[in-house]
Amino acid sequence: MLRFQRQFLPTQVERRKSKIERRPMKTPTEKATNTDFRPCEPLHIYSGIPHLINRIHTIVPTNRQTMVPLASILDSNSRLSTLPPGLVAIFIGATAGIGEITLKKFVQYARQPRAYLVGRSQSAADRIIASCKELNHEGEYIFIKADVSLIRNVDEVCAVIKAREKTINILFLSAALPVLDHSETLEGLPTIAALNFYSRHRFITALLPLLRQATSLRRIITIAVGSFEGPLNPNDFPGRHTSLLTLRGHFGTLITLSLEAAAERAPEVSFVHEHPGTVNTSFMQRVQGPLGILLRSMVWLGGRWLCIPVEESGERHLFLACSGRFPARVGDEGSGVEWKGEVARGTTGVSGGGVYSVGWSGESAGLEVERLLEGYREKGMVEDIWRHAESEFRRITGEDAAL
Ligand SMILES: NC(=O)c1ccc[n+]([C@@H]2O[C@H](COP(=O)([O-])OP(=O)(O)OC[C@H]3O[C@@H](n4cnc5c(N)ncnc54)[C@H](OP(=O)(O)O)[C@@H]3O)[C@@H](O)[C@H]2O)c1
Repeated sequence: MLRFQRQFLPTQVERRKSKIERRPMKTPTEKATNTDFRPCEPLHIYSGIPHLINRIHTIVPTNRQTMVPLASILDSNSRLSTLPPGLVAIFIGATAGIGEITLKKFVQYARQPRAYLVGRSQSAADRIIASCKELNHEGEYIFIKADVSLIRNVDEVCAVIKAREKTINILFLSAALPVLDHSETLEGLPTIAALNFYSRHRFITALLPLLRQATSLRRIITIAVGSFEGPLNPNDFPGRHTSLLTLRGHFGTLITLSLEAAAERAPEVSFVHEHPGTVNTSFMQRVQGPLGILLRSMVWLGGRWLCIPVEESGERHLFLACSGRFPARVGDEGSGVEWKGEVARGTTGVSGGGVYSVGWSGESAGLEVERLLEGYREKGMVEDIWRHAESEFRRITGEDAAL
């Protein structure tokens, strides 16, 4: 059984990966126009339940926006080369999974990119950097080894980046572990909350000044549970006493409102909170116990229909990171790749609102989520969350937050 589990989707994905890596891209210009290159053979694989859901959305009227066709996403990504050369992107959690594939897509399409990847595995980083060099030899790729569940380590990583960079274009946050126990970090935060919220919020507050300085694209993306916002427990932001069943909604709202708080302080930066759908990454392999066995069995049996292919997921995440569909609330110059279609609807219900909560397809969360968030906004939760995070950072580091 286990042998089959390991064999099924990984081999599919690896076959696709090796196809891509066998076709070397010589120059960024060639990359953008290489019609031979089919990044994820998307239209064949793009089927099953995700596709069915999309079909239902196009037939049954819903309060969601129409999904962007994958062809438009690929077209937009291929035009990343129209942005100025030398884009700087920071990928936190790019030694595997969605971070890794999005990093590779970025490297493949951008001109003379400079990309930082942060994670714990040196061997994975060496392998990924070698692939990045093959994909784009004009880029610069820097690995910073760190366990970012600790706020003090986040500060060290930010110090290294700040010593080298004056501006940042993309901050892509996807480091996480599927920990559903009550473990805590050495700094006294629940591990799940530390990775999904506190650490990412610390990166955002520390690096926001560099994003604000960028003269072109300015975007922060956090991959967690966007569009699944639910009841927030204001007496338990770290989620210590919140039941597992309600934890997803709680963290969804916590993260989205924290992005709104950051956007208040940096309206010229745009913020995206996303749920990636089911993607067969190492995340699945790391789920422990009976739940892990159940999930892997489901993927083994129905992965073809249930999962977003890894390559396609990379394209979709690069689109979130670079497309003008998700502009900042203020100013056009930081919006990224020109987008002629409809601009996404922000969390306040305003098109182009600057903070976006989206599902795997890039669709904005619906009216129900907007109403829920509005209620918490009226209760002052946006600033409460900001103050709570600051107080935790002060407790841990003895210093005030970066902003
Ligand atoms: N895949 C899915 O189906 C799925 C579904 C829903 C939500 N998500 C969300 O999507 C995000 C990305 O998931 P994924 O599928 O890319 O996961 P993944 O394949 O397990 O990758 C997670 C990345 O985070 C890094 N990481 C984990 N703990 C770290 C730590 N303490 N310090 C530094 N880096 C750390 C890992 O690198 P090292 O091991 O080298 O440290 C790895 O690069 C997560 O937030 C997850 O909750 C995923």
